Amino acid sequence: MTNILASKTALITGAAGGFGKAIARAFLDAGAQVVITDVNEGILQLTHQELSSLGPLHVIAGDLTDREMADRLIQTARDQYGKLDILVNNAGIMDRFDPIGELDMAFWDRVLAVNLTGPARVTQASVQEFLRDDRPTAKGGAILTVGSINGLRGGIAGAAYTTTKHALVGLTRSTAAHYATKGIRSNIIMPGLMETNIRTAYENGVNEEGRALAWKSLGVNPGHVNIDDLSKLVVFACSDQATYLNGAIISTDHGWQAI
Ligand SMILES: NC(=O)c1ccc[n+]([C@@H]2O[C@H](COP(=O)([O-])OP(=O)(O)OC[C@H]3O[C@@H](n4cnc5c(N)ncnc54)[C@H](O)[C@@H]3O)[C@@H](O)[C@H]2O)c1
Repeated sequence: MTNILASKTALITGAAGGFGKAIARAFLDAGAQVVITDVNEGILQLTHQELSSLGPLHVIAGDLTDREMADRLIQTARDQYGKLDILVNNAGIMDRFDPIGELDMAFWDRVLAVNLTGPARVTQASVQEFLRDDRPTAKGGAILTVGSINGLRGGIAGAAYTTTKHALVGLTRSTAAHYATKGIRSNIIMPGLMETNIRTAYENGVNEEGRALAWKSLGVNPGHVNIDDLSKLVVFACSDQATYLNGAIISTDHGWQAI
């Protein structure tokens, strides 16, 4: 994968830690210029210290649910590297396994804002950037969204998280369909369990019945997904070696959802 992203500029959301950081490392290894963003400014700065020797890396802290954040992110990529070629919609938060009948709707609003409206705004701003008339290179770009096995199954998380991950499939395919002839590709990966920090959502407790249902599914999970291995798929999917890949829903879960 050496240099398959040379001269590309990529924006990766939720990249302070977990899967986003692994993606940032893989993009730098592949020769990209990378902008990483996260709401957690302290850890984002540590990540910058850790990765900046690998290649051109710029950080911008902020909350994806802020209305003006998407435009700030695109403008930062343009100011730093002249353009944006790749968006990785990775930031996301888990819910607490609440089924709809027991869900605090304020929490629903928060999960939808982070997991769906935030990515939709950044996708919109990226598409506009990919198509702008005064681009220094040809029009077009690649979007890779991080969905989840919960975008294909109903009982492994609560109603809020499950709904957002299903909806991201719709956003991905709509974008792919509408812009296929304009050089923009949009794909989504559906990971199974990964060893990251996402379980902080449970710090304030969980819905025990919801979690018990999820645990039944866990009993047939063939294995956790290695984030460094999966990052290489993200690199490939966003590269010019995958120009045929558009509107794809890619299961990356050791076959868990197939069971
Ligand atoms: N860990 C898993 O088992 C798993 C499985 C399937 C899919 N996913 C998805 O993978 C993606 C990455 O999650 P992860 O597992 O690395 O978890 P993580 O918690 O380690 O990383 C998520 C990052 O998103 C950031 N973030 C949260 N809210 C934000 C906001 N409002 N604005 C900006 N940044 C924000 C967090 O600070 C964090 O750094 C998510 O979309 C998640 O839904 C995770």
